[in-house]
Amino acid sequence: MKSALTQLPAWHALWEHFSEARHLHMRELFASDPGRAERYSLEVGGLFLDYSKNRITDETVAGLMQLAREAGLPDKVRAMFKGEKLNTTENRAVLHVALRNRTNSPILVDGEDVMPKINAVLERMGRFATAVRSGEWLGYTHQPITDVVNIGIGGSDLGPLMVCSALRPFGHPRMNMHFVSNVDGSQLKETLKKIHPETTLFVVESKTFTTQETLTNALTARDWFVARAHDAKAVAKHFVAVSTNKKAVAEFGIDPANMFEFWDWVGGRYSLWSAIGLPIMLYLGEENFTELLNGAHIMDQHFRNAPLEANMPVLLAMIGVWYINYFGGGSHVIAPYDQYLHRFPAFIQQLDMESNGKQVTLDGTPVDFETAPIIWGETGINGQHAFFQLLHQGTHISPIDLIASLGKRSSLPGHHEILMANVLAQAEAFMRGKTADEVREELAAQGLSGEALERLVPHKVFGGNRPTNTLLMSRLDPRNLGSLIALYEHKIFVQGVIWHINSFDQWGVELGKQLARTIHAELTGKLAHAEHDSSTRRLIELCRKAESG
Ligand code: F6P
Repeated sequence: MKSALTQLPAWHALWEHFSEARHLHMRELFASDPGRAERYSLEVGGLFLDYSKNRITDETVAGLMQLAREAGLPDKVRAMFKGEKLNTTENRAVLHVALRNRTNSPILVDGEDVMPKINAVLERMGRFATAVRSGEWLGYTHQPITDVVNIGIGGSDLGPLMVCSALRPFGHPRMNMHFVSNVDGSQLKETLKKIHPETTLFVVESKTFTTQETLTNALTARDWFVARAHDAKAVAKHFVAVSTNKKAVAEFGIDPANMFEFWDWVGGRYSLWSAIGLPIMLYLGEENFTELLNGAHIMDQHFRNAPLEANMPVLLAMIGVWYINYFGGGSHVIAPYDQYLHRFPAFIQQLDMESNGKQVTLDGTPVDFETAPIIWGETGINGQHAFFQLLHQGTHISPIDLIASLGKRSSLPGHHEILMANVLAQAEAFMRGKTADEVREELAAQGLSGEALERLVPHKVFGGNRPTNTLLMSRLDPRNLGSLIALYEHKIFVQGVIWHINSFDQWGVELGKQLARTIHAELTGKLAHAEHDSSTRRLIELCRKAESG
């Protein structure tokens, strides 16, 4: 059965256009159009996007925007901001935008304005964070908190971890941040070596408060703490929880008075703006957290109000659709040229792949087109010396987002200029490539000729025509980071709308969790044998032997 998307007139018009556009080389597009860079760039708040180094023309952009219209994007954007239940498989609204709704205009879910409760939690978080940061909140031996250990996984880890790493220069000088997500005990063990029970605050973060990895780590941390404090009552000074599940928090043994709440209409991977952002607030302070929200709000307003053709998230999303669905490019690279953003690729990986890694449309029909690309990446400068070879001369087409900040932050002389030279050089190299004639000229200038020269030519040719987006922040600060994250959230939303999939559930992670429960029972002797294939059976036996030996 054909999906609704592949029956849209704009979908077909783009295929026709693609048959010609695929042969165009960006080198020629730039040569014939001096206004290209200016036309294909835009600024929102402190973010500047140059999308001119893509395999697009005015006709491509017009066709993609027509596709967005025919797919009903403007209505879907309105529906999200109005709090409609777009997450249909869980019957939930999708309202991370309400968490940073700085105008405070009412947003209704089931007839109730959610803004008063958002503001109330924000205020509580602010009071708590200020008390911890100022030293007013004291541990059980009356010492101020110096270390915060966040225990959570997925969206309850990656967002706070990424933001705290990215904004380290804004962090409280007394506060050391630690993040424990892996149930492999080594991460917690190494963290516990670095901290003291009297001066540590554990923040247990879990939307559901049923996640096995998080609860296991939290229990071990609590046992470690009680064994040293010799007083279970001291837990109240050193453990707080962030969750939507008050009952499970109480059952775990954390006083609900020490719990910060959020709601089911906040997806885990979209939750850093909610109480899940508590570690961020503890580290950066209330003011900087508010700035993060302000930055996201700037992008929200832009996304909501700018025309599609001048809308940063829409442009990034639709250009992405162009590569994924027409060129067949199944991967997308996130390359931040900023060491502080080193966890940004991992954060976007969850955001995009857990949201749009889907194979059926909203009505359950299998898709007959590609959906989310594989997101991967690393700091750009390190990537250059590792995997950029494939991006330049390999056989895959993988668009790359090159992200950097214009403002210098390192006080070390000379570094920022070298960094920026590399960002710009890579974008240029991916676009232009190097022709055989250019290679010949270069080799001749080095004194080579004849067969020796010709032998090298094919190896040194770069086809170019490889797409990049250059995203520049005026500087990496809370406000611009907020805008940057919201930009990607909305980009992913737009692609989900085009593909008519549910970007806000994640059933795909459930099967592994279910099977792990059974196998865990087998490994711990609570269950003799469950039914498995021969490979799994053999592997279970190996593990059992190793555990008992
Ligand atoms: O298993 C996937 C997932 O549900 C993510 O979507 C989520 O961010 C993560 O696990 C953690 O979930 P929780 O916050 O409920 O512990």
